[in-house]
Amino acid sequence: MSHVSLKCTACGNLHDSSMDTIQCPDCGEPVDVRYGPNHQTGDHTWAGVPIPMPYHQTGQSVTLGEGNTPVVAVNWVAGEVGIQNVDAKLEYMNPTGSFKDRGTAVMMSVAKELGVTEVVEDSSGNAGASVSAYAGRAGIIAHVFAPANAPEAKLQQIKVYGAQTHSIEGPREATTQAAIDYYQQRGLVYASHNLSPYFLEGTKTFAYELAASPAGVPDHVIIPVGNGALFIGAWKGFQELLAAGRIDKTPKMHAIQADGVMPVAAAFAGKPWTLEDSRPTIAGGISVATPPRKQQVLDILSASRGQSIAVDDTSIVWWQKAMASKEGIYCEPTSAAAFAGLQILAEHGHISREDRALVAVTGFGLKDAPPA
Ligand SMILES: Cc1ncc(COP(=O)(O)O)c(C=O)c1O
Ligand SMILES: [Zn+2]
Repeated sequence: MSHVSLKCTACGNLHDSSMDTIQCPDCGEPVDVRYGPNHQTGDHTWAGVPIPMPYHQTGQSVTLGEGNTPVVAVNWVAGEVGIQNVDAKLEYMNPTGSFKDRGTAVMMSVAKELGVTEVVEDSSGNAGASVSAYAGRAGIIAHVFAPANAPEAKLQQIKVYGAQTHSIEGPREATTQAAIDYYQQRGLVYASHNLSPYFLEGTKTFAYELAASPAGVPDHVIIPVGNGALFIGAWKGFQELLAAGRIDKTPKMHAIQADGVMPVAAAFAGKPWTLEDSRPTIAGGISVATPPRKQQVLDILSASRGQSIAVDDTSIVWWQKAMASKEGIYCEPTSAAAFAGLQILAEHGHISREDRALVAVTGFGLKDAPPA
């Protein structure tokens, strides 16, 4: 993969593209894919537009038809929050029911091309289900580590796609540590959706689809953020499109967190926040107390002039129920958090009445416990 290298997000050093380089060997920070001058974008297109991808041949890619998710107007939401145009991009219509499939498809395509036969992943549920499905399809053995208290439907989904599941007691961080110990002891590949630079190459397709849509790029994109895979990937896509002259503006990117686990929102507000400040939240997908790509998320908030908002569980449940009963959109609590965040953004005047806002509905409601 000579056309691709991995660039450290902190020190800027370049490294060879490899599934074994999940953090910069020089400083330990996450790495991103960088395309060399000889890169041929012509091989890959998305939404009719050339897109740089880290694997070579389209025919080798591991796909289940992910992406190209519908965008629907949510007029009841628009009235409720006082904005004229609000759209929802239904990411739960991806093959395993969450946006993670965008990232997994590319990560697994690279793994297959590099001859990887066995991977380790840790997940609160959705990424685990996605990796389990795509690994099985690619003929790759997957070990998925998940918290013992993850929603039953997600644990079942991970199992039924065929991954070897490892259930870990304790906080979410204990699951990550168990996965790291496991891959290091056995010399396996760590296909972490939080760290893999290839995963972000998949989530960037979100931006390509918006750019190609008749309405074009919205003024605001609202995303529930744990580690920021969709948030960072979407921004990367917008930057590529801008550099290629295919769009002339980028949206404000807003990162929504739960107030029980809000490292990004706190840092954005300039307030101290540590692991000890964590409280339980029903938004399990964004319950990430120490996101390794936090600085990247903060940099994007600043570059796009977006906001980071923390919302409480009461408002998350309210929005989850309201989205189902008023809009026919049954999303999981993590995804409902984005609508609770939209309401606050509008209330605080960060989104004006005439602006067009788009909310990513990241995961399907049946994956989680029903709202109380
Ligand atoms: C439904 C859903 N939405 C949003 C997120 C947040 O994704 P990220 O941690 O990449 O920001 C997750 C992560 O698990 C999720 O499952
Ligand atoms: Zn570095």
